[in-house]
Amino acid sequence: MNEQLTEKIKNLKKQQNAVILAHNYQPGEIQDIADFTGDSLALSIEAAKTNADVIVFCGVLFMAETAAILSPEKTVLLPDKHAGCPMADMITAKQLRELKGKHPGALVVCYVNSSAEVKAESDYCCTSANAVEVVNSLPTDSEIIFVPDQHLGRFVSEKTGRKMILWPGYCTTHAAITEDDIKKARKAHPEAIVMAHPECNEPVKALSDKILSTGQMLKFAKQSEVKVFIIATETGIIHTLKKENPEKEFFPATERALCPNMKRITLDKVLWSLEDMQYKVTVPDEIRIKAKRALDRMVAVLPAK
Ligand code: 13P
Ligand code: SF4
Repeated sequence: MNEQLTEKIKNLKKQQNAVILAHNYQPGEIQDIADFTGDSLALSIEAAKTNADVIVFCGVLFMAETAAILSPEKTVLLPDKHAGCPMADMITAKQLRELKGKHPGALVVCYVNSSAEVKAESDYCCTSANAVEVVNSLPTDSEIIFVPDQHLGRFVSEKTGRKMILWPGYCTTHAAITEDDIKKARKAHPEAIVMAHPECNEPVKALSDKILSTGQMLKFAKQSEVKVFIIATETGIIHTLKKENPEKEFFPATERALCPNMKRITLDKVLWSLEDMQYKVTVPDEIRIKAKRALDRMVAVLPAK
């Protein structure tokens, strides 16, 4: 069944000159059919440079919007229109304007997990892979507002020594990972290294060995001599970790770390999306042009090697 679907997707993709981009949290079978998989930063870079006419974005709305902002001449499709991100919805452009009003002159850095409207109100965008470098590139005497993820914000503040005004947003999926989960997992696998995403809360990060974006986790696991890993992020990444490192073992900190929005994308929906050219994600020019400024600055700041 999956083979037939995959074959149809492949043929249609060719006909439409389409490319399939998938985030590291996507279901395994979606990552397997994708032309490109990666973290938010790698996907943004790929979306900006691909020659395809159509991008099928297997991820959530803010990712497809980012692709539409960076490549307005392309058709960007999101196979499920309800695949949103609760964290991105935790701040609106109006709320950000009010916050800016209270801190005139502050520079605004928004996490890419935000709406196009919020990006348009921001000076810089960042992902978890380059947030530290983006903040380090800002003038030392300027005040910084960081939205919407308080946990990534605190992590960046600690790493850069910069005091930042944080918005109380958070990822509902990473919130499911607790200190207790890490302690139990360590007990079960005492030889393991714990890799945590910066969206995890502070006590979880304090108990972890490495704080990395999903792309950085994949890279670290490949290069490391270590054979056993505990993964404190959305469990979808374990599919690719295992595929790329068959001789190593990967255990989720908890099976509860599952993003229901990421899992809305299925092979049937990808096929339908290419057949019907749905759901088209577009961003009106007046927002797109402003949001692109913040994204262009993000794409220009690469994470440290
Ligand atoms: P990265 O893949 O950039 O680490 O982001 C994690 C995330 O939460 C995406 O929704
Ligand atoms: Fe949003 Fe968290 Fe899901 Fe990423 S994992 S899309 S931040 S809810």
